[in-house]
Amino acid sequence: MPSGFLLGSSKLSLLLSSLLLSAHPSLAQQTNVARILIYSATADFRHDSIPTAVDALMKLGPHSNIAFDHTEDKTWFNDDTLAQYDALLFLSNTGEVLDDAGKTALRNYLDLGGNFVAVHAASDALRNTTWYQEEVGAAFDYHPEITNANVDVVGPPHPSTAGLMNVWPVRDEMYNFKSDPRAIGAVVVLSADESNPGPRKYDQGTPHPTAWYQEHGAGIDENGTAGRSFYTSLGHLNETWKDSLFLGHVMGGITWTLQSNTTGAFNASARVGNGVPTSNGTNSSSTASHSGTGTSSPR
Ligand SMILES: *[C@@H]1O[C@H](CO)[C@@H](O)[C@H](O)[C@H]1NC(C)=O
Ligand SMILES: *[C@@H]1O[C@H](CO)[C@@H](O)[C@H](O)[C@H]1NC(C)=O
Ligand SMILES: *[C@@H]1O[C@H](CO)[C@@H](O)[C@H](O)[C@H]1NC(C)=O
Ligand SMILES: *[C@@H]1O[C@H](CO)[C@@H](O)[C@H](O)[C@H]1NC(C)=O
Ligand SMILES: *[C@@H]1O[C@H](CO)[C@@H](O)[C@H](O)[C@H]1NC(C)=O
Ligand SMILES: *[C@@H]1O[C@H](CO)[C@@H](O)[C@H](O)[C@H]1NC(C)=O
Ligand SMILES: *[C@@H]1O[C@H](CO)[C@@H](O)[C@H](O)[C@H]1NC(C)=O
Repeated sequence: MPSGFLLGSSKLSLLLSSLLLSAHPSLAQQTNVARILIYSATADFRHDSIPTAVDALMKLGPHSNIAFDHTEDKTWFNDDTLAQYDALLFLSNTGEVLDDAGKTALRNYLDLGGNFVAVHAASDALRNTTWYQEEVGAAFDYHPEITNANVDVVGPPHPSTAGLMNVWPVRDEMYNFKSDPRAIGAVVVLSADESNPGPRKYDQGTPHPTAWYQEHGAGIDENGTAGRSFYTSLGHLNETWKDSLFLGHVMGGITWTLQSNTTGAFNASARVGNGVPTSNGTNSSSTASHSGTGTSSPR
């Protein structure tokens, strides 16, 4: 399904969803499908690889029992809409991509056990929002010119690196960060091994953090229930999103993140996830948001 179909055609997708559900009523019982919202709004630099990335993820979802929705509409960041999702995936966002109401809804979602995935420039979004940067793991500082580099698999075995060779040659931007994600509990799984690293203005730790996971996302408030978080700084080029090694890396990170047991896809008592709206599902924007694939319905 082309992602453009999901953008702003809520009535059409709702209609299609109803048709699919009535033609295949058994789909409504499929409550273990994980629902993920891809958010790719940008307020500064916009990567032209975003549509390629969305298409790739949408195509891979069913193989991992994941139904992706996609939006760039910040009004989807309200409690009812977010509560349906097992994870949010921030894709190459830049700058101030949420208003205050949206940031509050995102924080609420994370506090309720929601999971979080961030890719590439998403570490350069919401630059003044400390808890957002902590949920990502670290804030982007800068990158030297795009380069051919080796990326080393480091740390414990992890689904995001299981399909990679120990030294993985990539063509991508090697991000530098304003802090060491390990300082807030992240575990680094990929490390850039550059032949010409740029200057380091901040202490981002050693080895150079390039992708990492957090068993307990650090962005929640003190009384929240932490879901999992995964971040990879790779993903600049269209070509990257057509590379099966990279796609395996991202999907491994996503599927690991979902297994927090804090959301509906893996825990029937969870407070968010698997298409469950917090209220009663009559909200028009929440109805639109869970109609993307017709594989799940509120239970
Ligand atoms: C990347 O893909 C997008 C969408 O297909 C296209 O618009 C864009 O021109 C591509 N960028 C490059 C550098 O080829
Ligand atoms: C972020 O903080 C800086 C420094 O206080 C301020 O100049 C800037 O306007 C803020 N940006 C946003 C989007 O709030
Ligand atoms: C967390 O819980 C404690 C004890 O109930 C309370 O005093 C504190 O205000 C809460 N903090 C937040 C941010 O809600
Ligand atoms: C999630 O639940 C499964 C099955 O009970 C368990 O094996 C796994 O360790 C749990 N994972 C976490 C992160 O609690
Ligand atoms: C399922 O979610 C509930 C509510 O957040 C929580 O109390 C329970 O520990 C979770 N179960 C597992 C296996 O993590
Ligand atoms: C469902 O939500 C609508 C819209 O917020 C509200 O008017 C209605 O009273 C709710 N119904 C129930 C049973 O909670
Ligand atoms: C549904 O959510 C939207 C977006 O937050 C909100 O503007 C609208 O008032 C809500 N509608 C109902 C019936 O709650």
